[in-house]
Amino acid sequence: MKFIPLASPDIQAQDIQEVVDVLKSGMLVQGKKVAELESNIATFVKSDYVIATSNGTSTMHLALVALGIGKGDEVIVPALSYVATANVVELVGATPVFVDVEIDSFNIDASKIEAAITDKTKAIIPVHEFGLPCDIVAIMKIANAHNLYVIEDAACALGASQNGQNVGTFGNFGSFSLHPRKAISSGEGGLITCQNPESAKKVQILRNHGVDIIDGKMEFVEAGFNYRMTDFQAALVNSQLDRLAATLTYKNELAEVYNSEIQNPKIKLPNCPSDRVHTWQTYHVLIDASINRDELIKTLREKGIGTNYGAQCIPDQIFYKNKYNHNSAVLFPNAFRAYKEGLAIPLYEKLTRADISYIAEELNKL
Ligand SMILES: Cc1ncc(COP(=O)(O)O)c(C=O)c1O
Repeated sequence: MKFIPLASPDIQAQDIQEVVDVLKSGMLVQGKKVAELESNIATFVKSDYVIATSNGTSTMHLALVALGIGKGDEVIVPALSYVATANVVELVGATPVFVDVEIDSFNIDASKIEAAITDKTKAIIPVHEFGLPCDIVAIMKIANAHNLYVIEDAACALGASQNGQNVGTFGNFGSFSLHPRKAISSGEGGLITCQNPESAKKVQILRNHGVDIIDGKMEFVEAGFNYRMTDFQAALVNSQLDRLAATLTYKNELAEVYNSEIQNPKIKLPNCPSDRVHTWQTYHVLIDASINRDELIKTLREKGIGTNYGAQCIPDQIFYKNKYNHNSAVLFPNAFRAYKEGLAIPLYEKLTRADISYIAEELNKL
């Protein structure tokens, strides 16, 4: 029986050749290919500055350090996301303040943000969950009214937009991941966007051990990190970038197949507001509470379909439960429900419409 995994990166022969060429060149780390990638992404998302890093988590860590956020500060994050969104806040010694998500979009509920703002709040990290832009326009208004920084966690959303503007270009910083579950991948990799030259410079310095060039000489001006990307990873992504627009169009077409062919009252389908462009990094449905989601994952596996839960209710994870003791089911009911009843199903460029129809058919049998 054929097995359809939940995700599978599309690495083609020419992508591999690009990597081999870099390996043969001897210039392996943060060289020409990284600079080329940064320039290509700047054009793609229309951002003044793009800095490539070792992964998506490091981009947000760099942004928080560059903004001077630390001990005693609060940062608003959605209660549903990949745990990295809150982990970076912990890493700088600040406190993540969780806000529930909307059940229809799985994105932070902008109408609940103001109630979470205190005199310690310094920033918001809204997530464009599963590749669907959150209402970043509304969130920027709130942030501007309260003088808060915004770091957009666009890990899954390269190419997504609201009102025609690419996500990652609204806030002080945007963060993208190049993990293999994303539309293009370097294995591990991250991209940070920003529109301010001083912020860009600060991040570049912090990415590379705190090094700056002063009067033609290397000087260590910060206690920085090693969050550099290798040149062969950059070459791998540069090569895939040529087909990213086509990939996103095709993924939207496959999502349409699910939208029209999954017809089961026990399955709630995702939707995309008309002012947004979705990347469909994950097609995420909600399963009726009468079905045991974890049993369903096993059953679908036996039918050759790889699925998994979509994202964590972060305050319900052991570290956060031990530290903050939030009652997530009560405080963040939508995030809690999405964590317990959400199901991510396969959607990527290597799948055919027939694969998608087969999965829809199996889901309709529930
Ligand atoms: C929403 C979100 N934020 C952050 C990350 C972290 O990215 P990375 O794995 O590249 O560090 C991910 C990873 O999948 C993610 O989905």
